[in-house]
Amino acid sequence: MAPGNSHAEGPTPADIINQDLSNYLLIICGAVSAAVIAWKSVDLITKYARTVVGANNDRQHYFARPSPNAASIKKHVLYAPVLSKRHNREIQLSSAINVGTLPTRFQLLFLTAYFITNVIFCVIDIPYAESYSEVAGMVRNRSGIMAVINMIPLFILAGRNNPLIPLLGISFDTYNLIHRWFGRIVALEAITHTVAHWARGGWLPSIQGTFQNPSFIWGFTATCAFTVLCIQAWSPLRHAFYEFFKLLHIALAALSIVGLWFHLSLLKNSYIRYLYPIMALWALDRAGRALRLFWFNIGRSRTRTVVEALPGNACRVTMTLARPWNFRPGQHAYLYMPGISLWQSHPFSVAWHEGADDTNSDRLVSHVQDRAVMQKSQISFVIRARTGFTDSLYQKVAGSSAGKMEPVCFVEGPYGAKHALDSYGTVVLFAGGVGVTHQVPYVRDLVAGFRDGVVATRRVLLVWTIQSPEHLEWIRPWMTEILAMEKRRDVLRIMLFVSKPRSSKEIHSPSSTVQMFPGRPNAETLLAMEQEQQVGAMAVSVCGPGALSDEVRLAVRRRQTRSNIDFIEEAFSW
Ligand SMILES: *[C@@H]1O[C@H](CO)[C@@H](O)[C@H](O)[C@H]1NC(C)=O
Repeated sequence: MAPGNSHAEGPTPADIINQDLSNYLLIICGAVSAAVIAWKSVDLITKYARTVVGANNDRQHYFARPSPNAASIKKHVLYAPVLSKRHNREIQLSSAINVGTLPTRFQLLFLTAYFITNVIFCVIDIPYAESYSEVAGMVRNRSGIMAVINMIPLFILAGRNNPLIPLLGISFDTYNLIHRWFGRIVALEAITHTVAHWARGGWLPSIQGTFQNPSFIWGFTATCAFTVLCIQAWSPLRHAFYEFFKLLHIALAALSIVGLWFHLSLLKNSYIRYLYPIMALWALDRAGRALRLFWFNIGRSRTRTVVEALPGNACRVTMTLARPWNFRPGQHAYLYMPGISLWQSHPFSVAWHEGADDTNSDRLVSHVQDRAVMQKSQISFVIRARTGFTDSLYQKVAGSSAGKMEPVCFVEGPYGAKHALDSYGTVVLFAGGVGVTHQVPYVRDLVAGFRDGVVATRRVLLVWTIQSPEHLEWIRPWMTEILAMEKRRDVLRIMLFVSKPRSSKEIHSPSSTVQMFPGRPNAETLLAMEQEQQVGAMAVSVCGPGALSDEVRLAVRRRQTRSNIDFIEEAFSW
């Protein structure tokens, strides 16, 4: 093979190799997605069968048994943090700077394999015996092409309306993690591309040449945009200036696409064709978002929003939507409040939902009769004041008369993979602080399912840690409704842990199924107790601060050999 000896007609052997490798990279991405879809499909079928069998069976012994292989895979790979315990608790250099979270071993395995694949693809099949400029030219071409190809999964992973999220059932968090690493791979390849170009033509003249040729100026702009994207998305900066981060991130992503477009079109390079799907993906996601915003907020009537201040620096946002909303537990939505923050939308767990697709009503109430009432959906969120948007919102509502206001607000959603818990005989839901909003819809769904005899669930335990009893106010109306549900006592127990009680008088247990304790829960002890009584398979879900998630994750891993336990973590690391 003697590449580079003819450019006259047809593709050179080097071009053919490059084209093959870019196809292989896309095939690898497709194959990984297909494998995950296959795995999730088997999981879905298993869960469906378990729900059907379990709905009429109070013992479900078969499903409670651990399978040794599955248990050790879950313990050592799927649920395991890279090192011993830490996964979601942020690594902090000081109290102000956190460097981010560590992936699980499974995530690390995938990312490392993908990274190595990319390195191999950038250097394989290059005739190193050839001249220096030939080799540099091929490395340049290869890395540039790989960067473009990787932008396809990168942009797929950036979208909210990403069809892979429901299809693959992968969490928001995992997507973000993969998006960040794919972004870093693209940036590294873009930098390699630029540097190899300079190396090829002799450093100084080609660096100077870069600024005399429009196609190189655009290419250089794209490389710079990628580099700055990575730097500005670095966890400490992202967390410190989140709202600015998002605006800048979108602007730089657009700049990189524009730069790349002119770079390739001025060079008459055929790889420009890969930019079409990338731009289409982006445009489709934006269109999907606009459609959702329009559909749910503007109908015969407009969406109305009431915000009330709650104790403990929080507020409750209740929205009556213009159209009914098909809600499932575990979903989140983005809120836009132009009066608080002009550009920003923020994701929040939907804490409560009343209306069209209500699990409480649609199983019992005749559809025809109540259609008129059910046309409206009402959704609620609890938002804790932290920084930026959430803090401004709280300050504004706390300062308003009667601690209540009706701002202009639009909602975009519902988003999020649905983890149905119906197939688990035993469900333990851990929540820390405002993370309880994620668990409340599950509690209601499971209690209603138990009452109607349509779920395998026989035991539900909610373990909620709050700093002070006044935080109970956040979900009080909903809890009251859940506690009054039929057969609730047979299935649901609640344990409240007050981590900083002011006095022991604050701690009192209203009933044997709703108990209050001072301090923090010991996840492992609680799980051991649940395992003694376990019915069917057990799901342990956690939503709260990283330290709580890590605690529960470790406990689930340690208890793997005793019975069949799955771990589900809901995190909104951002
Ligand atoms: C690199 O790509 C350019 C543009 O497609 C081409 O003209 C050149 O021959 C390639 N160089 C090598 C070494 O393959």
